[in-house]
Amino acid sequence: MTAVLEGLGVAVPQRVVTNLDLERVLDTSDEWIRTRTGIGERRVADPGVATADLAVEAGARALKSAGGGPVDMVVVATTSPDRVVPATAPEVASRIGLEPVAAFDLNAVCSGFVYALAVAAGMLDGHATQRVLVIGAETLSRITDPADRSTAVLFGDGGGAAVLRRGEPGESGAFGPFDLGSDGSMADSLAMPAGGSRRPASTSTLTGREHYMRLDGKAVYRHAIARMVASSRAALDAARLSAGDIDRFVGHQANLRILDAVADRLGIAPQRRVVNVDRYGNTSAASIPLALADAQLAPGQRVLLTAFGGGFTWGATTLTWPRLATV
Ligand code: ACO
Repeated sequence: MTAVLEGLGVAVPQRVVTNLDLERVLDTSDEWIRTRTGIGERRVADPGVATADLAVEAGARALKSAGGGPVDMVVVATTSPDRVVPATAPEVASRIGLEPVAAFDLNAVCSGFVYALAVAAGMLDGHATQRVLVIGAETLSRITDPADRSTAVLFGDGGGAAVLRRGEPGESGAFGPFDLGSDGSMADSLAMPAGGSRRPASTSTLTGREHYMRLDGKAVYRHAIARMVASSRAALDAARLSAGDIDRFVGHQANLRILDAVADRLGIAPQRRVVNVDRYGNTSAASIPLALADAQLAPGQRVLLTAFGGGFTWGATTLTWPRLATV
C-alpha cells in the first residue's frame, strides 16, 4: 500500500504587500530583498482572518478537486495556529463539514507539510484509514515583528491542501518513501521565545517583543541547504531513483538562493526547479502545496519534494504527478 494524491487546493489572501510597500515603513530596499531572497511580494491576511480560515478554503478546494466524498482524518500542519489550545484541525474539519473525523495539528514549522504527508501515508499504509485531508496553512504575519527588517521581509500568509487515498506503488499519484529528520540542538535558530510553557506570556515578554519569531538567518541558510540535499538523496535512494529521473524539483520556498544551491548540488537543472517565492515569500507549511499548485505539472512527471524548517526539521519524498481536476 502507498499514499496516492487525488486532490489539491490552495487559498491565499487577496492583499499583496510588495517590497516597495516595505521600503516605506522599514530600513530596507527592493534591491536588498530581491538579491538576498528572490522575494518580490507576499500575501498578508486582513485583520480578523486566521489560519483556520485559509485552511478551510484550501481544504474544501482540495476535496472538490478530489471529487468530494468522505475522509477519515484531517491533519493541519501549521506554525501559526488560531490558538495554542485547542488545535486548529478539529474546527477546520467541522467547518468543511467533515465531523466526526480524527483531526489534529502537526508542527514541524516549514517542513510541516512534508511531515504531514508522511504521517498520512503511514496511516493509510498501516491502519483502517482510507483517505486523509492534509492541510498546510499559515498566517505568519501574526507572529512576525513588523519592525524587524531581518524577518518582516521574508514571510507571507497562505494555505494549501492535498487529499491522499490508499493506493498501489506504481499508480499515478503515488508517493515514494519519505525521509524525515530533526536537530533540536538548533531550536533557538528560528524560534518564538515566549508564549509557551518555557516563557509564558507576561508584561516583560510583551515589552521584549518575544511573541514574534526570531531568526538566525545565516545558521538556517547553511543547514537548510545541507539538510535538504541529504534528505533529497535519501528519498531518491529509497525510491530507487536518481536526480536524473526527476522532472520537477519542488523545494520549500524560503529563499531563491537556497533553492538554487540545493538543485545545483543535486544536479537538477535550473529549469526543472519550481519557484514561486518571488510572489508569496516564505509561507512555511503552506509553501509546498502552493508551489505544487503553481507548477503546472504534467501527468506522469516525477516530482521531488523537500523542505527544511525551524526545529530544525527536514524531509523529502518523491511523487508521480497524477491527472488532477483544477478548482
Ligand atoms: N534590508 C536591508 N538590510 C538588511 C535586511 C533587510 N531586510 N535584513 C538584514 N539586513 C542587513 C543586516 O543588518 C546586515 O547588515 P550589516 O552587514 O551592516 O550587519 C546585512 O544586511 C547582512 O545581513 P545578513 O543577515 O548577514 O544577510 P544574509 O546575506 O545572511 O541574508 C537572509 C539574510 C536572507 C535571512 C539569509 O540569511 C537567509 O535567507 N537565510 C535563510 C533563512 C530563511 O529563509 N529563513 C526563513 C525561515 S526558516 C525556513 O524557512 C527554513
